[in-house]
Amino acid sequence: MSMSTSAQPINLFEFEELARERLPKEEYDYIAGGATDEISVDAIDLSTTVLGTKVRLPVLIAPCGGHKRAHPDGEIATYRAATACGTIFAVSANSNTSFEDLAKTGRGHLWVQLYPFRDKAMTQDWLDRAKDAGFEAVIVTLDSQWPPKRERNIRNNYRRTRGVNYPKANAETPRPAGRAGEGSDPAATWKDLEWIKSATELPVVAKGVLTGEDVELCAEVGADGVIVSGQGEIRNLSRRRHPARRRCRQSDCVRRNGCFHRATALLGSRR
Ligand SMILES: Cc1cc2nc3c(=O)[nH]c(=O)nc-3n(C[C@H](O)[C@H](O)[C@H](O)COP(=O)(O)O)c2cc1C
Repeated sequence: MSMSTSAQPINLFEFEELARERLPKEEYDYIAGGATDEISVDAIDLSTTVLGTKVRLPVLIAPCGGHKRAHPDGEIATYRAATACGTIFAVSANSNTSFEDLAKTGRGHLWVQLYPFRDKAMTQDWLDRAKDAGFEAVIVTLDSQWPPKRERNIRNNYRRTRGVNYPKANAETPRPAGRAGEGSDPAATWKDLEWIKSATELPVVAKGVLTGEDVELCAEVGADGVIVSGQGEIRNLSRRRHPARRRCRQSDCVRRNGCFHRATALLGSRR
């Protein structure tokens, strides 16, 4: 008995391949193309719970300083957007809007971010203010101990004023961004994280952790959560591989400043 293979397409993949061969490229692309990364996600329920808060979107807004440098509405607009998307806005230590003013503008979910500052009295004051204003958690950024050598800032002679939540002295004096001693105490240790945890009833999340060993150390001093982050290595030190990239299918999904430019990168990393 002679065996022969059929040259005819027998499923949609093969019809598609045939169409690709026969049609001019632009016509094929017009028919076959979808939006952005061409992945359909509309049927997926993305809601989850973070430290007891239900979010509709499993992407929180990371703390970034100085939103008013980009738009006059600054952090208030970001908070509005976070609330509309059903997620949490983590407000930077270097916010251009006061914690209290921000909290008054909405009914969403706010976390506050700070550093292990040298100034314990100020830290205590921020923790109390955040609690009183209705913030729901505290992020302690651990990976910005040293001022980064960001050459673009040096070249641009980039200067900024201190965030409005700091004590008023020198608040309006522009200074080079990330000057030594401005934020984190370079001599901070796990004890400082432990102290912050003891100084507030709010849950404390350690940001900037990269290894399992550090996660264990965070747990030992009582942290309620960790944020794995490439900030310290990419924006502050450079040259290291972003932690998410190790798990991400798309090689270009994490840019030089450590940011994702495609939400679908997150879906890719889950496969
Ligand atoms: C313009 C800019 C300002 C930032 N400001 C802060 C900040 O004030 N506090 C902080 O903890 N992280 C800050 N970050 C870091 C981000 O929260 C985030 O960690 C970083 O973009 C890397 O993303 P990843 O944490 O998902 O790796 C800033 C990032 C950018 C790009």
